[in-house]
Amino acid sequence: MQILVTGGTGYIGSHAVIELLAAGHDVVVVDNFSNSSHRSLAALRNVANRDFAFCQGDVRDAVCLDRMFERHTFDAVMHFAGVKAVGESVDLPMKYYDNNVNGTLRLLECMRAHSVNTFVFSSSCTVYGEPALVPVAEDCPTGAVNPYGRSKLTVEHILRDLCAAEPGWRVSVLRYFNPIGAHGSGELGEDPQGVPNNLLPYISQVAVGRMPHVNVYGNDYPTRDGTGVRDYIHVVDLARGHLKALEFLQNAQGLTVHNLGTGRGHSVLEVIAAFEAASGRPIPYQVVPRRPGDAAEVYADPARARAELGWVARYDIDRMCADAWRWQSTHPQGFAG
Ligand code: NAD
Ligand code: UFG
Repeated sequence: MQILVTGGTGYIGSHAVIELLAAGHDVVVVDNFSNSSHRSLAALRNVANRDFAFCQGDVRDAVCLDRMFERHTFDAVMHFAGVKAVGESVDLPMKYYDNNVNGTLRLLECMRAHSVNTFVFSSSCTVYGEPALVPVAEDCPTGAVNPYGRSKLTVEHILRDLCAAEPGWRVSVLRYFNPIGAHGSGELGEDPQGVPNNLLPYISQVAVGRMPHVNVYGNDYPTRDGTGVRDYIHVVDLARGHLKALEFLQNAQGLTVHNLGTGRGHSVLEVIAAFEAASGRPIPYQVVPRRPGDAAEVYADPARARAELGWVARYDIDRMCADAWRWQSTHPQGFAG
């Protein structure tokens, strides 16, 4: 198949590109480099050992999209392009609605104009807000608690309405839990700009000496050691989930929603310990007050993805940390090095 991958030079998109190329698909990547490096393109071509087309452009730019759809005949679109920092979304909500909602609308309009109807969307467990029950299944109530989450939920609503109004669309909404880790080659990984917001990149940067210590946000949660529990999933497992979703859509109609998580939760202190073991380095930490808006415990019920997509996560937390460390230790400054 010929697949358009938006945001394909970013963290998750780049890993999906590798899996798509390895499976024999042709790929066209569009990215505006707003949160990625052009150097990831060379790394991608190197790791995949195959070439693919790239277009530097913005998914909100209808003219740019139209040109791409005229030049290529796409069988499906995987849509990773978007902005994702929760804190920033509170300060700059318009940026989030514009990129995530308007960007998706432009893309869907262009797909419709060119009769492309197969779409895989990067959603997030953030749409569940603070879940009342764990593990979280797809039919749990949604209720995002910040503009980023609301932008994802808004796109989910748009996709549901579109599929109800126009039969023929095949849409897979994938709700990721906490993606971490890096490609096993050590050539691709997460490369956050500025101070990382998320736990794993922060720990990696402490291990490599870029940060002095990890701030642990609260140790008074009702969890086994008092720190927050999350469902961390290896980014390569996540990328494989996209291929499974693509296969599934060949025989499906309308909209489907799947959680992509392992079904296991790990506390902040457990992740720090796993990273210490993987890196052989001490990870100093300090307990600081809770981060506003954080839930105590969030992990997936991945049963639907297993049953319908035939997908299960393969890699455990030790492998996630080992691969993250291989990437960080060989690229201490990320792609900029
Ligand atoms: P990322 O920032 O590494 O990748 C996103 C890519 O999209 C970047 O390369 C960026 O340059 C590009 N981009 C952003 N806006 C664009 C636009 N308007 N036009 C063209 N390109 C644009 O993020 P990621 O972690 O790879 O996330 C990919 C998707 O998955 C996002 O939609 C994100 O919201 C979603 N998601 C991420 C996580 C996570 O924890 N990383 C969790 C759940 C969902
Ligand atoms: N944490 C720390 N110190 C840090 C960073 C995080 O203790 O420096 C803790 C948090 O309190 C939480 C856990 O580590 O208990 C994970 O935090 P992350 O910031 O890595 O990830 P979150 O679970 O908060 O959620 C993020 C986004 C959500 C998204 C989710 C899954 O904020 O919108 O990843 O993709 F849904």
